[in-house]
Amino acid sequence: LPDEVVTVLGEQYPKDAKTNITSSILSKVSRKLHLQPSHPIGILRSLIEAHYPSFTALSNFSPVVTPAMNFDDLSFPLDHPGRSLTDSYYINAHRMLRTHTSAHEVETFAKGIRQWLLTADVYRRDEIDGSHYPVFHQMEGARIFSHDPSGIRELEEDNARLAARLAKANIVIEDIPHVTATNPAQPSHDPRHAELVALNLKLSLNSLILDIFGGRANAGEGEPLRVRWIEAYFPFTSPSFEVEVMFGGKWLEILGCGVVLQSTLDKAKVPNSIGWAFGLGLERIAMILYSIPDIRLFWSEDPRFLSQFTPGQIKTFKPFSKYPACYKDVSFWLPDQAMHENDFCDLVRDAAGDFVEDVKLVDAFTHPKTKRNSQCFRINYRSMDRSLSNDEANALHAQVVSRLKNVCVYLLVR
Ligand code: PHE
Repeated sequence: LPDEVVTVLGEQYPKDAKTNITSSILSKVSRKLHLQPSHPIGILRSLIEAHYPSFTALSNFSPVVTPAMNFDDLSFPLDHPGRSLTDSYYINAHRMLRTHTSAHEVETFAKGIRQWLLTADVYRRDEIDGSHYPVFHQMEGARIFSHDPSGIRELEEDNARLAARLAKANIVIEDIPHVTATNPAQPSHDPRHAELVALNLKLSLNSLILDIFGGRANAGEGEPLRVRWIEAYFPFTSPSFEVEVMFGGKWLEILGCGVVLQSTLDKAKVPNSIGWAFGLGLERIAMILYSIPDIRLFWSEDPRFLSQFTPGQIKTFKPFSKYPACYKDVSFWLPDQAMHENDFCDLVRDAAGDFVEDVKLVDAFTHPKTKRNSQCFRINYRSMDRSLSNDEANALHAQVVSRLKNVCVYLLVR
C-alpha cells in the first residue's frame, strides 16, 4: 500500500490528514549538500568550523523531527504561523521536516555539550524566486557558561580577547544596546549578566563575520567591512538580534541570534548555566561570498557549477551563460476551500522541478455576481544548464495545468 505511507531516509511513516510533504521535497532529503567537501555549502561549513576550533561540530542529525522539538521545546506559541500547514512540511501529525536547526538545541545541550556548531538542511514552504528555495541549510552555534563567578570571569576574559582583535580590524560595526525595554533580559537573569552574555555573542559573531567576509564582501579595495545589529524577536531567545552585512551597496540579513531562554536550558537539564545561540543561513552567505546568482544552482549536478569550488577557498563564481526565459500564464478559479500561494508553488515545483525559476501572481479577480475568485500566475520556465525549447516549456506547463485540474474544478487557461 505504497500510498498510505511516506518513506523518508528509509523510514516509513503513516500518512494522515496533516501530510503535505511532496515527492519533489522528499527527493532532496538524501542530498546532504553540507556534507560534500567540495560543494560551496560544505566549504562554508568547514570554514566556520575552523573559526571555532574549540566547539563540537555536529552535522548528521535527521531532518525528521517532532513538532515538539521544532516548536514547543522552544516556547513557540500555539498560534505561531510557522506551525501551519502552509508554512511547514508535515510527514504526519507527529513528524515534520525541521524548519530550523534550533530544533536540536535541547537534545544537544542535554548531551552535556557546552559549545557546539550544528549544520543541517532545513525545510520551509515558500514562494518561488531566485533567492528562495524550500530546502536550505543553516548552521546553529551555541555556547553556555557557568552561572558562577568562574563563568563570569570566562566571559570577561573572552570579551577582552575578542574586543582587542576587532579593535585592530578594518570593520565598522553599527551596534545597539545589549538590553532594552523592548528587547529585555529574562526575568531570571541579572541584567548585567545578560549584557555580558549578549556582548560575548556580538563579539564572537563580529569576529566570525570579519573572518569570513573581511576583504571579500567589499567592492572597493581598503573599504571597511560594514556590519549592523538590529533588534529582533524569536520565541526562544531574549534579548534577540539580527545581523546584516553591507554587500554590493545593500544591507543583507545573514543570521538571527540571542540569549537562550532559560526554559530551553531547563528542558535540556543543564543547571546553573546561561548562554547564547545563533542561526546562520548558509545559502545566503554563500551567494554573497561567491556571487552565486540563483539559489537553484546549489542543487545543480552540472560540472560547470561543481568544478568551480575548492575546499578552503572562496573565489568568485563565473556564471555560465543564462539561457532564455520562457513565460507561461495560467489562470483558474480557486477551489472552494481556497488555495494558498505556497500550495500553488509546491504544485508547480512538483510538476516542473528546478525548471521553474520564478512564480508571480499577476492578477486576481472576484466575479461580481458569483463572488468566485480567480487568480492568474506567471511562471518563468528556465533551465540553468541548457536552452529549453518552447515545446518542452509547453510540456512542463501542461503538467502544471493537469495537476491544477485535480484541485480546481473549473479551470481556464490562457
Ligand atoms: N532559528 C532562527 C531562524 O531560523 C534563528 C535563530 C537561531 C535565532 C538561534 C536565535 C537563536 O530564524
